[in-house]
Amino acid sequence: EKTVFDLIPFMKEFVKFISRTLPENIKIDFETTVKRCNIKADPTKIQQVLANLIVNARDAMPEGGQILLSTREKYIVDEKPYSEMSTGRWVEIMVKDTGTGIPRDVLPHIFEPFFTTKGVGKGTGLGLSQAYGIVKQHEGFIEVKSKEGEGTTFYIYLPIVDAEAVPLTTREPAIPQGKGQKVLVIEDDESVRVLTINLLNELNYHAEAASTAREALALFEHKRDEFDIVICDLVMPDLNGIDLSKRIKELKPSIPVIGVSGYPLIDEDKKTILKHFDNFLQKPFSIKALAEALRDCIKD
Ligand SMILES: Nc1ncnc2c1ncn2[C@@H]1O[C@H](COP(=O)(O)OP(=O)(O)OP(=O)(O)O)[C@@H](O)[C@H]1O
Ligand SMILES: [Mg+2]
Repeated sequence: EKTVFDLIPFMKEFVKFISRTLPENIKIDFETTVKRCNIKADPTKIQQVLANLIVNARDAMPEGGQILLSTREKYIVDEKPYSEMSTGRWVEIMVKDTGTGIPRDVLPHIFEPFFTTKGVGKGTGLGLSQAYGIVKQHEGFIEVKSKEGEGTTFYIYLPIVDAEAVPLTTREPAIPQGKGQKVLVIEDDESVRVLTINLLNELNYHAEAASTAREALALFEHKRDEFDIVICDLVMPDLNGIDLSKRIKELKPSIPVIGVSGYPLIDEDKKTILKHFDNFLQKPFSIKALAEALRDCIKD
């Protein structure tokens, strides 16, 4: 779902929302030397890339620090940073932190799937490989510069397009809104969890989140009357989504549960999943897909 949109207001909006998810000792700023910059991209996926980088920056600054996001235009004539880069207009998105930095021997591996230096149960090592994949899907480039003890800077390059932008807010007038219903989000991937809560708030739902099945069940047992719907990742480290959904429905048989998968499913799998869930979403999902999945499950 690529559309042409102006990256600058998008970045401002993103920084506003993500800053609310950061601890107080982390300061985040956005600077830009370009006023307008149209890219052809999937906004949900670009948001995912930025969220992954911000979560990593936060993790690298346990004692606090600064994150600087910036955008500037690069006009590529013949001195190309990458041989495959076409000449013309590019935007450089920079995400800079004052964290621990990345050791020299670790640096070549950070984009590999499942590579993590975080403890068991803390990182899956998929954040940067997903970011890399998404940037590639957009014909872009991502690189990193880091010095141990000084911090890390990621650079993303995306092609600027000449096409007219479609304003993101008025683009989809037909998105069904919630009525303040309360949603329990069960998701172990932090950046996805943060993004889902943000989307739910935008859609006029109240969201509460749990990062493990155990946490979710404790919360649900305690507040089952308050929740109207559950969104649940199919793969959780402590219990699989199907069993979790069963347990939730034992506690409150009337509650709709939406399953979320990070992997594309074949029709056969979908059939099995829909025996245990009221609906199904595939990551990364758009705000529209989320809104429709919720509307289709909630009967008023
Ligand atoms: N800003 C950063 N500062 C220091 N190290 C970083 C930074 N970003 C990434 N890294 C290193 O790169 C590794 C891989 O990052 P990646 O986001 O792919 O996985 P993760 O953060 O470990 O796990 P996940 O993102 O799946 O929760 C990290 O474990 C960390 O060692
Ligand atoms: Mg990460």
